Amino acid sequence: MAKIQIGTVVTWQAAVGAMALFVLQACGTEDAGTDSVAEDVQPVAAVQAAVAGPGLTIDADSFLCLGDMTAVRHFFVDNLLGNLDETVVVAESTDGGVYPPGSVVQLVPTEAMVKHGPGYNAATRDWEFFELDVSAEGSSIRNRGFVDVINKFGGNCFGCHIKAEPKYDLICELEHGCDPIPVTREMIAGIQVADPRCSIESGVE
Ligand code: HEC
Repeated sequence: MAKIQIGTVVTWQAAVGAMALFVLQACGTEDAGTDSVAEDVQPVAAVQAAVAGPGLTIDADSFLCLGDMTAVRHFFVDNLLGNLDETVVVAESTDGGVYPPGSVVQLVPTEAMVKHGPGYNAATRDWEFFELDVSAEGSSIRNRGFVDVINKFGGNCFGCHIKAEPKYDLICELEHGCDPIPVTREMIAGIQVADPRCSIESGVE
């Protein structure tokens, strides 16, 4: 699913680029053969892929048991592109900051936010929202997307998280400006400890 979606975006962009190139070529060179068009399409696809950001493939295996992520205060972070240090610096800041590409943020096992590369989705500031199913066997993706993912309480992830003050990069916590969720921190701690994908130490703040 993840590969298909990202692949589709890149292919679509590449197709537009290729069409533009074809039109340019058709105008400029009367007898541009199919071969020369095919050769020139390659760099266009490469440029478009670069614009889409670093190679970030998100699938069910991208999501770990919370206990295998890095705990920051009351939530958990990871980075799918190996840049965990920068993700942790932003997460630890109490004054906000922009999360680097590849960042994964989770409060409970079944909901996650993952950061794509700059410009991937301007509306969500490059965050993709996920609703997961979790069991002892691992994670599976129930629902994913940018502005239209609904959680099990009927709330739109983006609709709430976009209300965070801009400097917090869509991270809500308790006082960043989002609508509250009907779950206390105490209940959240219990849900975190009960992650069925592994056993985690209790006592996360
Ligand atoms: C009703 C508004 C609302 C909806 C809908 C909502 N959230 Fe949140 N979310 C919050 C609030 C408020 C917090 C902070 C709770 C806390 O820190 O105790 C939060 C916390 C989080 C966090 C931890 C980082 C942070 O922002 O504090 C993640 C990750 C997250 N939500 C993902 C999601 C995903 C994914 C969805 C949809 C499947 C979703 N949320 C739906 C309001 C919402």
